[in-house]
Amino acid sequence: MNEALRLGVNIDHVATVRNARGSGYPDPVRAALLAAQAGADGITAHLREDRRHITDDDIARLSDQLTIPLNLEMAATQEMLAIALRHRPHAACIVPEKREELTTEGGLDAAGQYDRLAPMCAQLREAGVRVSLFIEPDPAQIEAAIRLGAPVVELHTGRYAELDGADQAAELKRLADAAALAAKNGIEVHAGHGLTFDNVVPIAAIPQIRELNIGHFLIGQAIFDGLAPVVQRMRALMDAAR
Ligand code: PXP
Repeated sequence: MNEALRLGVNIDHVATVRNARGSGYPDPVRAALLAAQAGADGITAHLREDRRHITDDDIARLSDQLTIPLNLEMAATQEMLAIALRHRPHAACIVPEKREELTTEGGLDAAGQYDRLAPMCAQLREAGVRVSLFIEPDPAQIEAAIRLGAPVVELHTGRYAELDGADQAAELKRLADAAALAAKNGIEVHAGHGLTFDNVVPIAAIPQIRELNIGHFLIGQAIFDGLAPVVQRMRALMDAAR
């Protein structure tokens, strides 16, 4: 039996629905508390530069009310660094962010942005925040994460989720190889992006992966089944794969 696999539920798109009407409903913090009750091990929220879904107030309320770890997804900017240092979430996952993108497209260029990331990783580490780097399953990026002293990498599964057949199998192998390389170097491995009931099992079966962060599918499926049953089903699929 492999080590347990944690489920981090990303509640960004509860905020997307709320913001469509500019009111307070539905509240992503309520969704986070419900997801925790249903078996989520952590909550992820991405405070984007344009605040298109999660807001500063959401982060403050999540920090106050959650009893499970908060993983703050953030761009590598001074503004976001200051917010992370103020709230000191359990973890900060540094993601690349482009204003015009629909969602996080591609991983962080940890290798190319080393000089910018190094002081940021150090400040977060000193504040007791666990740094995670959201990267492609690429050995060069893992080597950069090692040099940056990041305790965690989150492997981007977006490409895997979009492919099928032999191409998907090849991407799965890249993910498995990257997970093995990172773990061998003492880095904890997480993964996420685009995961669903249909594609999660092979990812959950990669033994070095310790946490999956899943959002859009869970929140969308909750419209049909309710959030608690959807979180419970995802948990069951992940547990069965270990
Ligand atoms: N992990 C990271 C770093 C992300 O940026 C996202 C999307 O916000 C996710 C996981 C979750 O992706 P999805 O919403 O497609 O499940």
